[in-house]
Amino acid sequence: MIETDAHIPRILIVEDSRYDQLIYQHTLRDFDLVFADSGETGLERLATEEFDLVVLDFQLPRMNGDQVLSRIREELGLDLPVVIVTGGGSESVAVDLLKQGAYDYVTKDDLHTPRVAAAVRGALDRHWLDRARRKAEDELRRRKDELETALRQLQEAQAHLVQSEKMASLGQLVAGVAHEINNPLSYVSNNIAVLDRDVRQVAAIMADYRAHCGANIPDAIREAEDRADLPYVLNNLDRLLRSSRQGLERVREIVAGLRDFSRLDEADRKLIDPNDSIRSALEMVRYHIRQKGIHLVADPGDVPPCWCFAGKLNQVLLNILMNAIQAVPDGATITVATGTNPERTEVEIAISDDGPGIPDSVRGKIFDPFFTTKPQGLGTGLGLWITYNVVQEHQGRIDLESEVGKGTTFRITLPTRLPCDPA
Ligand SMILES: Nc1ncnc2c1ncn2[C@@H]1O[C@H](COP(=O)(O)OP(=O)(O)OP(=O)(O)O)[C@@H](O)[C@H]1O
Ligand SMILES: [Mg+2]
Repeated sequence: MIETDAHIPRILIVEDSRYDQLIYQHTLRDFDLVFADSGETGLERLATEEFDLVVLDFQLPRMNGDQVLSRIREELGLDLPVVIVTGGGSESVAVDLLKQGAYDYVTKDDLHTPRVAAAVRGALDRHWLDRARRKAEDELRRRKDELETALRQLQEAQAHLVQSEKMASLGQLVAGVAHEINNPLSYVSNNIAVLDRDVRQVAAIMADYRAHCGANIPDAIREAEDRADLPYVLNNLDRLLRSSRQGLERVREIVAGLRDFSRLDEADRKLIDPNDSIRSALEMVRYHIRQKGIHLVADPGDVPPCWCFAGKLNQVLLNILMNAIQAVPDGATITVATGTNPERTEVEIAISDDGPGIPDSVRGKIFDPFFTTKPQGLGTGLGLWITYNVVQEHQGRIDLESEVGKGTTFRITLPTRLPCDPA
Protein backbone atom coordinates (compact mmCIF):
# COMPACT_ATOMS: atom_id res chain seq x y z
CA MET A 1 0.00 0.00 0.00
CA ILE A 2 1.15 3.52 -0.69
CA GLU A 3 1.32 5.40 2.57
CA THR A 4 2.36 8.98 2.40
CA ASP A 5 2.42 9.62 6.14
CA ALA A 6 1.97 7.81 9.43
CA HIS A 7 -1.80 7.81 8.96
CA ILE A 8 -3.34 4.45 9.86
CA PRO A 9 -6.29 3.82 7.54
CA ARG A 10 -9.63 3.92 9.33
CA ILE A 11 -11.91 1.10 8.21
CA LEU A 12 -15.60 0.64 8.80
CA ILE A 13 -16.56 -3.03 8.91
CA VAL A 14 -20.28 -3.61 8.40
CA GLU A 15 -20.70 -7.11 9.78
CA ASP A 16 -23.50 -8.50 11.94
CA SER A 17 -21.67 -11.63 13.08
CA ARG A 18 -19.78 -11.09 16.31
CA TYR A 19 -17.64 -14.07 15.50
CA ASP A 20 -16.57 -12.66 12.12
CA GLN A 21 -15.84 -9.31 13.79
CA LEU A 22 -13.33 -11.07 16.02
CA ILE A 23 -11.67 -12.61 12.97
CA TYR A 24 -11.35 -9.16 11.37
CA GLN A 25 -9.74 -7.85 14.52
CA HIS A 26 -7.06 -10.38 13.95
CA THR A 27 -6.59 -10.34 10.15
CA LEU A 28 -6.88 -6.53 9.86
CA ARG A 29 -5.03 -5.70 13.07
CA ASP A 30 -2.80 -3.15 11.31
CA PHE A 31 -5.81 -0.91 10.65
CA ASP A 32 -7.97 1.32 12.79
CA LEU A 33 -11.19 -0.70 12.80
CA VAL A 34 -14.72 0.48 13.56
CA PHE A 35 -17.60 -2.02 13.52
CA ALA A 36 -21.25 -1.59 12.59
CA ASP A 37 -23.54 -4.57 12.96
CA SER A 38 -26.15 -3.52 10.40
CA GLY A 39 -26.42 -1.60 7.14
CA GLU A 40 -28.37 1.19 8.87
CA THR A 41 -25.79 1.83 11.62
CA GLY A 42 -23.01 1.59 9.03
CA LEU A 43 -24.69 4.30 6.92
CA GLU A 44 -25.24 6.48 10.00
CA ARG A 45 -21.56 6.33 10.89
CA LEU A 46 -20.54 6.98 7.32
CA ALA A 47 -22.75 10.06 7.26
CA THR A 48 -21.02 11.60 10.27
CA GLU A 49 -17.48 10.21 10.39
CA GLU A 50 -14.47 9.98 8.14
CA PHE A 51 -13.36 6.55 6.90
CA ASP A 52 -10.77 5.39 4.42
CA LEU A 53 -12.51 2.17 3.39
CA VAL A 54 -15.60 0.05 4.05
CA VAL A 55 -15.63 -3.72 4.35
CA LEU A 56 -19.23 -4.66 3.64
CA ASP A 57 -20.80 -8.01 4.40
CA PHE A 58 -23.25 -8.87 1.67
CA GLN A 59 -25.70 -10.72 3.87
CA LEU A 60 -27.00 -8.33 6.49
CA PRO A 61 -30.29 -8.25 8.36
CA ARG A 62 -33.00 -6.08 6.66
CA MET A 63 -30.67 -4.47 4.12
CA ASN A 64 -28.36 -6.31 1.77
CA GLY A 65 -24.83 -5.28 0.87
CA ASP A 66 -25.86 -4.05 -2.60
CA GLN A 67 -28.49 -1.73 -1.09
CA VAL A 68 -25.96 -0.36 1.38
CA LEU A 69 -23.47 0.12 -1.45
CA SER A 70 -25.89 2.01 -3.64
CA ARG A 71 -26.88 4.27 -0.71
CA ILE A 72 -23.20 4.93 0.04
CA ARG A 73 -22.71 6.05 -3.54
CA GLU A 74 -26.00 7.75 -4.34
CA GLU A 75 -27.40 9.12 -1.06
CA LEU A 76 -24.17 9.92 0.75
CA GLY A 77 -22.28 10.64 -2.46
CA LEU A 78 -19.18 8.98 -0.98
CA ASP A 79 -16.41 7.85 -3.26
CA LEU A 80 -14.90 5.46 -0.65
CA PRO A 81 -13.35 2.16 -1.63
CA VAL A 82 -15.67 -0.68 -0.64
CA VAL A 83 -14.64 -4.33 -0.30
CA ILE A 84 -17.56 -6.78 -0.36
CA VAL A 85 -17.65 -10.00 1.64
CA THR A 86 -19.90 -12.63 0.10
CA GLY A 87 -20.91 -16.08 1.21
CA GLY A 88 -18.95 -18.90 -0.41
CA GLY A 89 -20.04 -19.64 -3.99
CA SER A 90 -21.69 -16.24 -4.62
CA GLU A 91 -19.15 -15.00 -7.16
CA SER A 92 -21.87 -13.86 -9.55
CA VAL A 93 -23.27 -11.53 -6.85
CA ALA A 94 -19.77 -10.23 -6.27
CA VAL A 95 -19.30 -9.49 -9.98
CA ASP A 96 -22.56 -7.50 -10.00
CA LEU A 97 -21.36 -5.52 -7.00
CA LEU A 98 -18.05 -4.80 -8.70
CA LYS A 99 -20.07 -3.36 -11.56
CA GLN A 100 -21.92 -1.19 -9.04
CA GLY A 101 -18.67 0.33 -7.87
CA ALA A 102 -17.25 -2.06 -5.26
CA TYR A 103 -13.46 -2.17 -5.42
CA ASP A 104 -12.92 -5.84 -4.63
CA TYR A 105 -14.56 -8.81 -2.96
CA VAL A 106 -13.56 -11.67 -0.69
CA THR A 107 -15.59 -14.66 0.37
CA LYS A 108 -16.37 -15.71 3.92
CA ASP A 109 -13.99 -18.61 3.33
CA ASP A 110 -11.14 -16.10 2.91
CA LEU A 111 -11.77 -14.39 6.24
CA HIS A 112 -9.08 -16.39 8.04
CA THR A 113 -6.54 -15.87 5.31
CA PRO A 114 -4.23 -12.97 4.41
CA ARG A 115 -6.45 -12.45 1.33
CA VAL A 116 -8.66 -10.03 3.33
CA ALA A 117 -5.79 -7.73 4.30
CA ALA A 118 -4.43 -7.95 0.72
CA ALA A 119 -7.84 -6.96 -0.72
CA VAL A 120 -8.08 -4.02 1.71
CA ARG A 121 -4.57 -2.81 0.95
CA GLY A 122 -5.13 -3.26 -2.80
CA ALA A 123 -8.38 -1.27 -2.64
CA LEU A 124 -6.76 1.50 -0.59
CA ASP A 125 -3.87 1.69 -3.06
CA ARG A 126 -6.17 1.78 -6.06
CA HIS A 127 -8.28 4.44 -4.45
CA TRP A 128 -5.24 6.48 -3.56
CA LEU A 129 -3.89 6.14 -7.09
CA ASP A 130 -7.29 7.02 -8.57
CA ARG A 131 -7.45 10.10 -6.41
CA ALA A 132 -3.90 11.09 -7.28
CA ARG A 133 -4.65 10.55 -10.98
CA ARG A 134 -7.83 12.61 -10.76
CA LYS A 135 -5.98 15.33 -8.89
CA ALA A 136 -3.23 15.30 -11.52
CA GLU A 137 -5.83 15.41 -14.28
CA ASP A 138 -7.59 18.33 -12.58
CA GLU A 139 -4.29 20.10 -12.16
CA LEU A 140 -3.44 19.41 -15.80
CA ARG A 141 -6.81 20.71 -16.92
CA ARG A 142 -6.39 23.82 -14.75
CA ARG A 143 -2.89 24.43 -16.15
CA LYS A 144 -4.19 23.93 -19.69
CA ASP A 145 -6.99 26.45 -19.05
CA GLU A 146 -4.47 28.86 -17.57
CA LEU A 147 -2.18 28.42 -20.55
CA GLU A 148 -5.02 28.89 -22.98
CA THR A 149 -6.09 32.07 -21.18
CA ALA A 150 -2.50 33.30 -21.13
CA LEU A 151 -2.13 32.49 -24.83
CA ARG A 152 -5.34 34.34 -25.63
CA GLN A 153 -4.23 37.34 -23.57
CA LEU A 154 -0.83 37.24 -25.23
CA GLN A 155 -2.37 37.11 -28.67
CA GLU A 156 -4.68 39.99 -27.83
CA ALA A 157 -1.81 42.01 -26.39
CA GLN A 158 0.31 41.23 -29.44
CA ALA A 159 -2.57 42.09 -31.73
CA HIS A 160 -3.09 45.39 -29.88
CA LEU A 161 0.56 46.15 -30.26
CA VAL A 162 0.60 45.30 -33.95
CA GLN A 163 -2.67 47.17 -34.41
CA SER A 164 -1.44 50.35 -32.81
CA GLU A 165 1.87 50.07 -34.64
CA LYS A 166 0.10 49.31 -37.88
CA MET A 167 -2.26 52.24 -37.48
CA ALA A 168 0.37 54.64 -36.25
CA SER A 169 2.86 53.68 -38.94
CA LEU A 170 0.21 53.74 -41.65
CA GLY A 171 -0.95 57.14 -40.45
CA GLN A 172 2.59 58.46 -40.21
CA LEU A 173 3.50 57.03 -43.59
CA VAL A 174 0.48 58.58 -45.21
CA ALA A 175 0.99 61.91 -43.46
CA GLY A 176 4.73 61.83 -44.37
CA VAL A 177 4.03 61.10 -48.02
CA ALA A 178 1.41 63.84 -48.13
CA HIS A 179 3.87 66.26 -46.60
CA GLU A 180 6.64 65.29 -49.02
CA ILE A 181 4.38 65.72 -52.04
CA ASN A 182 3.13 69.04 -50.77
CA ASN A 183 6.50 70.74 -51.16
CA PRO A 184 7.14 70.06 -54.85
CA LEU A 185 3.42 70.50 -55.42
CA SER A 186 3.51 74.05 -54.16
CA TYR A 187 6.56 75.13 -56.19
CA VAL A 188 5.34 73.37 -59.35
CA SER A 189 1.98 75.15 -58.91
CA ASN A 190 3.76 78.48 -58.52
CA ASN A 191 5.97 77.80 -61.50
CA ILE A 192 2.98 76.88 -63.66
CA ALA A 193 1.27 80.13 -62.71
CA VAL A 194 4.43 82.12 -63.57
CA LEU A 195 4.94 80.06 -66.74
CA ASP A 196 1.38 80.70 -67.77
CA ARG A 197 1.82 84.46 -67.39
CA ASP A 198 5.30 84.54 -69.04
CA VAL A 199 4.42 82.27 -71.93
CA ARG A 200 1.40 84.42 -72.70
CA GLN A 201 3.65 87.49 -72.71
CA VAL A 202 6.17 85.76 -75.01
CA ALA A 203 3.33 84.71 -77.33
CA ALA A 204 2.03 88.31 -77.35
CA ILE A 205 5.51 89.65 -78.18
CA MET A 206 5.85 87.14 -81.01
CA ALA A 207 2.48 88.17 -82.37
CA ASP A 208 3.72 91.81 -82.21
CA TYR A 209 6.89 90.89 -84.10
CA ARG A 210 4.83 89.26 -86.82
CA ALA A 211 2.44 92.20 -87.03
CA HIS A 212 5.30 94.73 -87.32
CA CYS A 213 7.76 92.84 -89.48
CA GLY A 214 5.23 91.17 -91.77
CA ALA A 215 6.98 90.03 -94.94
CA ASN A 216 10.38 91.22 -93.66
CA ILE A 217 10.88 88.29 -91.33
CA PRO A 218 14.18 86.68 -92.28
CA ASP A 219 13.94 83.30 -94.06
CA ALA A 220 15.94 81.48 -91.36
CA ILE A 221 13.41 82.54 -88.73
CA ARG A 222 10.46 81.68 -90.95
CA GLU A 223 11.97 78.23 -91.56
CA ALA A 224 12.50 77.73 -87.84
CA GLU A 225 8.86 78.71 -87.25
CA ASP A 226 7.73 76.17 -89.84
CA ARG A 227 9.88 73.45 -88.37
CA ALA A 228 8.40 74.05 -84.93
CA ASP A 229 4.88 74.51 -86.36
CA LEU A 230 4.64 77.75 -84.38
CA PRO A 231 0.91 78.47 -84.94
CA TYR A 232 0.05 75.01 -83.55
CA VAL A 233 2.44 75.43 -80.62
CA LEU A 234 0.95 78.83 -79.74
CA ASN A 235 -2.57 77.50 -80.04
CA ASN A 236 -1.77 74.40 -77.99
CA LEU A 237 -0.05 76.26 -75.15
CA ASP A 238 -3.34 77.22 -73.59
CA ARG A 239 -4.63 73.64 -73.59
CA LEU A 240 -1.34 72.33 -72.18
CA LEU A 241 -1.31 74.81 -69.36
CA ARG A 242 -4.98 74.17 -68.58
CA SER A 243 -4.52 70.40 -68.37
CA SER A 244 -1.35 70.87 -66.24
CA ARG A 245 -3.34 73.05 -63.83
CA GLN A 246 -6.07 70.36 -63.71
CA GLY A 247 -3.42 67.70 -63.05
CA LEU A 248 -2.01 69.74 -60.20
CA GLU A 249 -5.49 70.27 -58.81
CA ARG A 250 -5.95 66.47 -58.80
CA VAL A 251 -2.59 65.99 -57.01
CA ARG A 252 -3.70 68.58 -54.47
CA GLU A 253 -6.94 66.63 -53.92
CA ILE A 254 -5.03 63.41 -53.45
CA VAL A 255 -2.73 65.00 -50.90
CA ALA A 256 -5.71 66.48 -49.06
CA GLY A 257 -7.31 63.01 -49.18
CA LEU A 258 -4.19 61.42 -47.72
CA ARG A 259 -4.07 63.99 -44.95
CA ASP A 260 -7.76 63.53 -44.31
CA PHE A 261 -7.31 59.80 -44.18
CA SER A 262 -4.49 59.80 -41.67
CA ARG A 263 -6.06 62.45 -39.42
CA LEU A 264 -3.37 61.78 -36.88
CA ASP A 265 -4.22 64.90 -34.98
CA GLU A 266 -7.74 63.76 -34.19
CA ALA A 267 -7.56 61.80 -30.96
CA ASP A 268 -11.08 62.84 -29.95
CA ARG A 269 -14.45 61.93 -31.30
CA LYS A 270 -15.78 64.47 -33.72
CA LEU A 271 -18.96 64.88 -35.67
CA ILE A 272 -18.12 63.61 -39.11
CA ASP A 273 -20.06 62.90 -42.27
CA PRO A 274 -19.80 59.15 -42.97
CA ASN A 275 -19.96 59.85 -46.70
CA ASP A 276 -16.77 61.92 -46.35
CA SER A 277 -15.03 59.00 -44.64
CA ILE A 278 -16.10 56.72 -47.47
CA ARG A 279 -14.80 59.16 -50.07
CA SER A 280 -11.54 59.39 -48.20
CA ALA A 281 -11.14 55.60 -47.94
CA LEU A 282 -12.11 55.14 -51.59
CA GLU A 283 -9.42 57.64 -52.52
CA MET A 284 -6.88 55.33 -50.89
CA VAL A 285 -7.95 52.27 -52.87
CA ARG A 286 -8.63 53.99 -56.19
CA TYR A 287 -5.45 52.53 -57.69
CA HIS A 288 -6.32 48.92 -56.72
CA ILE A 289 -9.85 49.35 -58.02
CA ARG A 290 -8.58 50.62 -61.35
CA GLN A 291 -5.93 47.93 -61.56
CA LYS A 292 -8.49 45.12 -61.20
CA GLY A 293 -11.04 46.83 -63.41
CA ILE A 294 -13.52 46.74 -60.54
CA HIS A 295 -16.85 48.39 -61.12
CA LEU A 296 -17.45 50.65 -58.11
CA VAL A 297 -21.00 51.62 -57.26
CA ALA A 298 -21.27 54.40 -54.68
CA ASP A 299 -24.74 54.91 -53.28
CA PRO A 300 -24.42 57.59 -50.59
CA GLY A 301 -27.63 58.30 -48.72
CA ASP A 302 -28.71 61.44 -46.94
CA VAL A 303 -27.25 60.50 -43.56
CA PRO A 304 -26.80 62.48 -40.36
CA PRO A 305 -23.27 63.03 -39.02
CA CYS A 306 -21.84 60.62 -36.41
CA TRP A 307 -19.53 61.09 -33.46
CA CYS A 308 -16.46 59.18 -34.58
CA PHE A 309 -12.72 58.85 -34.25
CA ALA A 310 -12.24 59.89 -37.86
CA GLY A 311 -8.89 58.20 -38.45
CA LYS A 312 -10.10 54.92 -36.95
CA LEU A 313 -13.30 54.90 -38.98
CA ASN A 314 -11.25 55.47 -42.13
CA GLN A 315 -9.10 52.51 -41.15
CA VAL A 316 -12.21 50.34 -40.72
CA LEU A 317 -13.58 51.28 -44.14
CA LEU A 318 -10.18 50.76 -45.73
CA ASN A 319 -9.88 47.26 -44.15
CA ILE A 320 -13.27 46.17 -45.46
CA LEU A 321 -12.71 47.70 -48.89
CA MET A 322 -9.26 46.09 -49.21
CA ASN A 323 -10.69 42.69 -48.20
CA ALA A 324 -13.38 43.04 -50.85
CA ILE A 325 -10.86 44.13 -53.50
CA GLN A 326 -8.55 41.25 -52.62
CA ALA A 327 -11.40 38.72 -52.62
CA VAL A 328 -13.06 39.54 -55.93
CA PRO A 329 -11.90 38.60 -59.43
CA ASP A 330 -11.07 41.23 -62.08
CA GLY A 331 -14.09 43.14 -63.35
CA ALA A 332 -16.24 42.41 -60.27
CA THR A 333 -18.56 44.94 -58.61
CA ILE A 334 -18.15 46.55 -55.20
CA THR A 335 -21.00 48.62 -53.83
CA VAL A 336 -20.72 51.12 -51.01
CA ALA A 337 -23.97 52.48 -49.64
CA THR A 338 -25.00 54.55 -46.64
CA GLY A 339 -28.38 54.94 -45.04
CA THR A 340 -30.10 55.81 -41.79
CA ASN A 341 -33.11 54.68 -39.78
CA PRO A 342 -36.32 56.75 -39.70
CA GLU A 343 -35.37 58.26 -36.30
CA ARG A 344 -31.93 59.15 -37.72
CA THR A 345 -30.31 57.71 -34.59
CA GLU A 346 -28.17 55.25 -36.53
CA VAL A 347 -26.12 55.32 -39.69
CA GLU A 348 -25.53 52.18 -41.71
CA ILE A 349 -22.57 51.72 -44.00
CA ALA A 350 -22.82 48.66 -46.25
CA ILE A 351 -19.91 47.44 -48.32
CA SER A 352 -20.84 44.59 -50.68
CA ASP A 353 -18.96 42.57 -53.22
CA ASP A 354 -19.99 39.88 -55.68
CA GLY A 355 -16.88 37.81 -54.93
CA PRO A 356 -16.48 34.23 -53.71
CA GLY A 357 -18.25 34.70 -50.35
CA ILE A 358 -17.10 33.37 -46.97
CA PRO A 359 -17.64 29.66 -46.29
CA ASP A 360 -19.33 28.61 -43.02
CA SER A 361 -16.14 26.92 -41.84
CA VAL A 362 -14.35 30.29 -41.90
CA ARG A 363 -17.17 32.62 -40.95
CA GLY A 364 -16.86 32.13 -37.17
CA LYS A 365 -13.17 32.96 -37.17
CA ILE A 366 -12.77 36.00 -39.40
CA PHE A 367 -12.94 38.47 -36.50
CA ASP A 368 -10.28 36.55 -34.49
CA PRO A 369 -6.87 38.16 -34.26
CA PHE A 370 -4.35 36.69 -36.71
CA PHE A 371 -6.92 34.62 -38.59
CA THR A 372 -6.24 34.82 -42.29
CA THR A 373 -6.82 32.62 -45.32
CA LYS A 374 -4.32 34.61 -47.33
CA PRO A 375 -0.82 33.37 -48.10
CA GLN A 376 1.93 34.36 -45.71
CA GLY A 377 3.05 37.89 -46.32
CA LEU A 378 -0.26 38.89 -47.88
CA GLY A 379 -2.49 39.04 -44.81
CA THR A 380 -1.79 39.44 -41.11
CA GLY A 381 -5.35 38.52 -40.17
CA LEU A 382 -5.77 41.70 -38.15
CA GLY A 383 -7.96 43.75 -40.48
CA LEU A 384 -11.34 42.53 -39.27
CA TRP A 385 -10.20 42.18 -35.67
CA ILE A 386 -9.23 45.87 -35.70
CA THR A 387 -12.49 46.65 -37.47
CA TYR A 388 -14.53 44.81 -34.84
CA ASN A 389 -12.75 46.59 -31.98
CA VAL A 390 -13.13 50.02 -33.53
CA VAL A 391 -16.84 49.43 -34.16
CA GLN A 392 -17.22 48.31 -30.52
CA GLU A 393 -15.39 51.42 -29.39
CA HIS A 394 -18.01 53.44 -31.27
CA GLN A 395 -20.82 51.45 -29.57
CA GLY A 396 -21.73 50.20 -33.03
CA ARG A 397 -22.39 46.81 -34.64
CA ILE A 398 -20.91 44.94 -37.52
CA ASP A 399 -22.99 42.34 -39.34
CA LEU A 400 -21.99 39.96 -42.04
CA GLU A 401 -24.03 38.45 -44.84
CA SER A 402 -22.22 36.11 -47.12
CA GLU A 403 -23.10 33.37 -49.55
CA VAL A 404 -20.51 31.19 -51.19
CA GLY A 405 -20.34 31.96 -54.89
CA LYS A 406 -22.59 35.03 -54.54
CA GLY A 407 -20.68 37.58 -52.48
CA THR A 408 -20.31 39.28 -49.14
CA THR A 409 -21.78 42.30 -47.40
CA PHE A 410 -20.31 43.89 -44.29
CA ARG A 411 -22.83 46.17 -42.62
CA ILE A 412 -21.61 48.64 -40.03
CA THR A 413 -24.16 50.40 -37.85
CA LEU A 414 -23.01 53.42 -35.88
CA PRO A 415 -25.03 55.46 -33.40
CA THR A 416 -25.33 59.11 -34.36
CA ARG A 417 -25.43 60.22 -30.73
CA LEU A 418 -22.93 59.63 -27.98
CA PRO A 419 -24.29 57.44 -25.15
CA CYS A 420 -24.26 60.48 -22.84
CA ASP A 421 -26.05 62.72 -25.36
CA PRO A 422 -29.50 63.93 -24.36
CA ALA A 423 -32.02 62.52 -26.83
N1 LIG B 1 -15.14 40.33 -48.69
C1 LIG B 1 -14.60 39.14 -48.37
N2 LIG B 1 -14.78 38.06 -49.18
C2 LIG B 1 -14.24 36.86 -48.86
N3 LIG B 1 -13.51 36.63 -47.75
C3 LIG B 1 -13.29 37.65 -46.91
C4 LIG B 1 -13.83 38.96 -47.16
N4 LIG B 1 -13.46 39.76 -46.13
C5 LIG B 1 -12.74 39.01 -45.28
N5 LIG B 1 -12.62 37.74 -45.74
C6 LIG B 1 -11.94 36.63 -45.05
O1 LIG B 1 -11.67 37.01 -43.71
C7 LIG B 1 -10.29 36.78 -43.40
C8 LIG B 1 -9.85 37.75 -42.34
O2 LIG B 1 -9.84 39.08 -42.85
P1 LIG B 1 -8.90 40.14 -42.16
O3 LIG B 1 -9.10 41.43 -42.85
O4 LIG B 1 -9.09 40.10 -40.70
O5 LIG B 1 -7.43 39.57 -42.43
P2 LIG B 1 -6.64 39.53 -43.79
O6 LIG B 1 -7.33 40.36 -44.82
O7 LIG B 1 -6.43 38.11 -44.11
O8 LIG B 1 -5.26 40.20 -43.37
P3 LIG B 1 -5.00 41.79 -43.08
O9 LIG B 1 -6.30 42.51 -43.25
O10 LIG B 1 -4.52 41.84 -41.67
O11 LIG B 1 -3.97 42.17 -44.06
C9 LIG B 1 -9.58 36.91 -44.72
O12 LIG B 1 -8.33 36.24 -44.73
C10 LIG B 1 -10.61 36.27 -45.69
O13 LIG B 1 -10.50 34.89 -45.68
MG1 LIG C 1 -7.89 42.32 -44.44
